[in-house]
Amino acid sequence: MAFANHEQANEENDLTLSLPKESGLGAAPYLHLFQDFWCPSYYVQGVNNFQKHFHAKDSDVFVASFPKSGTTWLKALAFVIVNHQRFSSFDHHPLLSSNPHQLVPFPEFILSHDLHDKILSLSNMSEPRVLGTHLPFPSLPESITKSNCKIIYICRNPFDTFVSAWEFFTKMKLVSSPALTFEEAFEKYCNGIMGFGPWWSHMLGYWKESITRPDKILFLKYEDLKEDTAFHVKRIVEFLDSPITQGGDSNAVIENIINVCGFEKMKDLEVNKSGDIDNIAEKKNFFRKGKIGDWINYFSPSMMEKLSKIIEEKLSGSGLSF
Ligand code: A3P
Repeated sequence: MAFANHEQANEENDLTLSLPKESGLGAAPYLHLFQDFWCPSYYVQGVNNFQKHFHAKDSDVFVASFPKSGTTWLKALAFVIVNHQRFSSFDHHPLLSSNPHQLVPFPEFILSHDLHDKILSLSNMSEPRVLGTHLPFPSLPESITKSNCKIIYICRNPFDTFVSAWEFFTKMKLVSSPALTFEEAFEKYCNGIMGFGPWWSHMLGYWKESITRPDKILFLKYEDLKEDTAFHVKRIVEFLDSPITQGGDSNAVIENIINVCGFEKMKDLEVNKSGDIDNIAEKKNFFRKGKIGDWINYFSPSMMEKLSKIIEEKLSGSGLSF
């Protein structure tokens, strides 16, 4: 891993030195317990900068998620919906020539280095800005929670999330902590140890907030979005007060949005087949199977039983279930 300069590396070391450290999925190279969540060491500085220096605008739209829950898909949908008037042609849409993570950056990642330049590039983005974050709700910069900007959150059943994370993070380019077996990574996940975890507090933080502030946070599940995409895309459109609903042809527009963001369509684009994001993750790895229930091919009966119990225990009484 290359740091931009020694000063940044030292600052990063100072920040992480006193924090508890673990290996786990999403570690780069370690996970540090920072503000009650497991933050990949590479991003501790970026999270800190995001919290200290980011200024949300009322028109901002945030796509928030626990990693491997459908972030890429939701980023694509949100970008197309928000920019519907700016890019009305689906034949020459930026999504056809750029990966969703390039169009919708994560401030906590890009603010890891070159702070001044990156703050400037964020403030120069055309408005309304569409941005992503993996931060748990309590760790969001105050300007996001206090401004009128909107948040769309996506989560996924914890079984598929784990399998997707296993397949993705074991292919990541960043130097990771000592390699874990599938079983070891699963044990860590069951204890909440994965990048941005525990997964249950991540989900519950946004879930509870979406109930008290439904105008601020729209809470979605990957499975629901897969099973009735049109219905949930309409919910996003309405939540964002998009003018799409006012046009007479809103159903046709929504169908086009769904098509351009479809799994096969995006996976087959040249731009998503090669190259990487920030020299860290290969773009093609963001599009694996895009299915519900692939976990069945990976889990032993005892793993299934164990995770089912944890889900029940952690989510019980919250109204959230899988
Ligand atoms: P699988 O690994 O199960 O295939 P994230 O974007 O948060 O990293 O989540 C990645 C998961 O979303 C992967 O799941 C990936 O295949 C799936 N995915 C990516 N693009 C998608 C799309 N357009 N539609 C549905 N699923 C998509």
